[in-house]
Amino acid sequence: MAKEKTTFICTECGGSSPRWLGKCPSCGAWNTLIEQVAEAGPGKNRLSTPQGYAGLANAQPVLPLAAIEAQDVARTPSGIDELDRVLGGGIVEGGVVLIGGDPGIGKSTLLLQAMDALQRAGLPTLYVTGEESGAQVALRSRRLGIDGSQVQLLAEIQLEKILATVEATQPSVVVIDSIQTTYSDQLTSAPGSVAQVRECAAHLTRMAKSTGIAVILVGHVTKEGALAGPRVLEHMVDTVLYFEGDTHSQFRLVRAIKNRFGAVNEIGVFAMTEKGLKGVSNPSAIFLSQHSEPVPGSCVMVTLEGTRPLLVEIQALVDSGGPSPRRLSVGLDKDRLAMLLAVLHRHAGVACMDQDVFVNAVGGVRISEPAADLAVMLSITSSLRGKALPRGFLAFGEVGLAGEVRPAPRGQERLKEAAKLGFSVAVVPKANAPKKPIEGLTIHAVERVEEAMNVVRGL
Ligand code: TYD
Ligand code: MG
Repeated sequence: MAKEKTTFICTECGGSSPRWLGKCPSCGAWNTLIEQVAEAGPGKNRLSTPQGYAGLANAQPVLPLAAIEAQDVARTPSGIDELDRVLGGGIVEGGVVLIGGDPGIGKSTLLLQAMDALQRAGLPTLYVTGEESGAQVALRSRRLGIDGSQVQLLAEIQLEKILATVEATQPSVVVIDSIQTTYSDQLTSAPGSVAQVRECAAHLTRMAKSTGIAVILVGHVTKEGALAGPRVLEHMVDTVLYFEGDTHSQFRLVRAIKNRFGAVNEIGVFAMTEKGLKGVSNPSAIFLSQHSEPVPGSCVMVTLEGTRPLLVEIQALVDSGGPSPRRLSVGLDKDRLAMLLAVLHRHAGVACMDQDVFVNAVGGVRISEPAADLAVMLSITSSLRGKALPRGFLAFGEVGLAGEVRPAPRGQERLKEAAKLGFSVAVVPKANAPKKPIEGLTIHAVERVEEAMNVVRGL
């Protein structure tokens, strides 16, 4: 096949250049030119006629929305419940899923398990591996106890060969592990470069849409935690899933951050075992660490992940710091921590100015909702005073800059889950206080941070 012509397009201004330059000739930005396959043929349809467009193209029929028949998308459950939950019910025909996560977190393992389940259910699958050899994947399948698997395997990284194989074998689901190792012959840049990732993903997406084959792309994550490759990759696909969790702990979360076919922020919870990933169907208590006695600096909160309440322990350590004390948070927003420390000082009179403050959400969970605020504050004061919160204590609620405690969404559900797990005392925002008492749970409803501090002091 003859090499197609490529041009270099500036990602800032869209200007083009026939060769790579460090500086864009149009806008002067540095290092913004990326390689792209040039449009085939001269654009004879350029819109240059001032006489109207009828000579260029015929008008197309339009329809009122109500007249368009909308069918529910056909989904095939993958056979792995926790994965189906984040996908919104299963794999969608012609859907493109991008799944990202740190190296070694379990992407290949999960997908191999899912492909095997689909193959067993009678769906033809194709697993394209560019990262490992066929023998390595076979070895993994043996560990997973699926060595008799009929999953079709292709060890290939060249896009054109992959597409030709897909055309010839007609699978229903294709896994590309990973998009960063795949390269197209049409571009000269190296595999994994922005241009290659974008070009390959675009071709695969087009193939999925035109043939109805579902495509699952594995994506690497950069040091900063974003998917490597351009942001546009996330825009191209239908669903973006992220693997989270601490590689040292057993538990893994799969979170949907974009889903055209389902709800986002639903999570799937897995445990890594020596036989692969196992779904955890009742995960509410897995992020609590086991203390035989209550310890200072620990406060449990209930966070909501999609439709499921999850109890998470927030730990804080406050220790005398140097001239410029450190503020560090793991699993929680660092800027929010700085803000909470200011509120704590201003409205509750608790000063940590000369102290190092470390905060951690146990188990590698990432909590983005502000409902963690109250638990973060209480764990900090608990550590500062060296006084443990009572056994069976929990707190949640958003804290504002004026020191007010704001309600968290679906407070009742959170409290019920906590009561179910044997928690006995809760400090919650006033608006979240239940109308009917919840059995076994004493609830202190507060409106301000000062009030919460007083309640805790009196416990
Ligand atoms: P892997 O799926 O290769 O990660 P990724 O594709 O995201 O890079 O995960 C491999 C890790 O999982 C590796 O550190 C070993 C561990 N593992 C198990 O603990 N049990 C198993 O059955 C398998 C297959 C892997
Ligand atoms: Mg892998």
